[in-house]
Amino acid sequence: MRTLRTIAELRAALAQPRREGSRIGLVPTMGAFHEGHLSLMRRAREDNDVVVVSLFVNPTQFNEGNDLAAYPRDENRDALLASDAGVDYLFAPAVEEIYPPGFTASVSLGAITEVLEGAQRGRAHFEGVATVVTKLFNMVAPQVAYFGQKDAQQARVIKQLVHDLDMQVQIEVCPIVREPDGLAMSSRNVHLSPAEREQATALSRALRVASDLVEAGEYESDAITAAARNELDSANLDTEYFEIVDLETFAPITTIDGPALAVVAARVGSTRLIDNQQLSTKSVAGQYAGAVAAGSN
Ligand code: PAF
Repeated sequence: MRTLRTIAELRAALAQPRREGSRIGLVPTMGAFHEGHLSLMRRAREDNDVVVVSLFVNPTQFNEGNDLAAYPRDENRDALLASDAGVDYLFAPAVEEIYPPGFTASVSLGAITEVLEGAQRGRAHFEGVATVVTKLFNMVAPQVAYFGQKDAQQARVIKQLVHDLDMQVQIEVCPIVREPDGLAMSSRNVHLSPAEREQATALSRALRVASDLVEAGEYESDAITAAARNELDSANLDTEYFEIVDLETFAPITTIDGPALAVVAARVGSTRLIDNQQLSTKSVAGQYAGAVAAGSN
């Protein structure tokens, strides 16, 4: 694996494989790798001839200075893990390489960026994500890019970006990887004290409460949300939101009558965590099973 620092180096490295028609896969990251990142890299390795991982802690998407300053960074460790996962190129540019003096562009998307994470973290958050991902897509020009379902709204925003700007990149969203006790893997988990680590398991428990209720036939969001919030409150979490939303628009749903997503954001001490889980009513789950059995894709 080679570590590349500049856009020129990156383009030079990819020129030959691109001429030969190689399939290039990109995994955009901010580093501090855990099993979630590694699962994206392994998937990219299976699917592509060349795998590029970008490691760039993008300052423009952080709404809190402390969060940016405290974001875990260990490039040497990350490089070893990426190499073990079969990555060909680690693109780890300096901030000035991505945002040189005089940089002014900003990619702004519509309603999908204004709710939930957009509402909590401010408009600049998804603008920062969309702008840096646009730049990374332009630099790497991958056929396919991999994102994690843990950041479900981000993945949906990226799909909107690709659709709206006619980008020729396929977006693959890979499943959440969880610790044995259910906690979704996150780079921010390293900030949790042992007691907070225990408290944090309430996020996945709250999602489980929601999906169990739906499986038992409760489709009213108010009832489901109240039970889930109870779980979060019992663990003394500072919940920013627990909502049941439409999979496409991320708008709140009152009564579940199709595929829906339960989404949660909560602070455990000073660490902000998010998680989500798809919910399906029995009738919709049955339709899915039928489609798979019929060989539909
Ligand atoms: O999910 C992340 O790590 C970041 O938001 C991303 C997609 C790499 C953009 O900076």
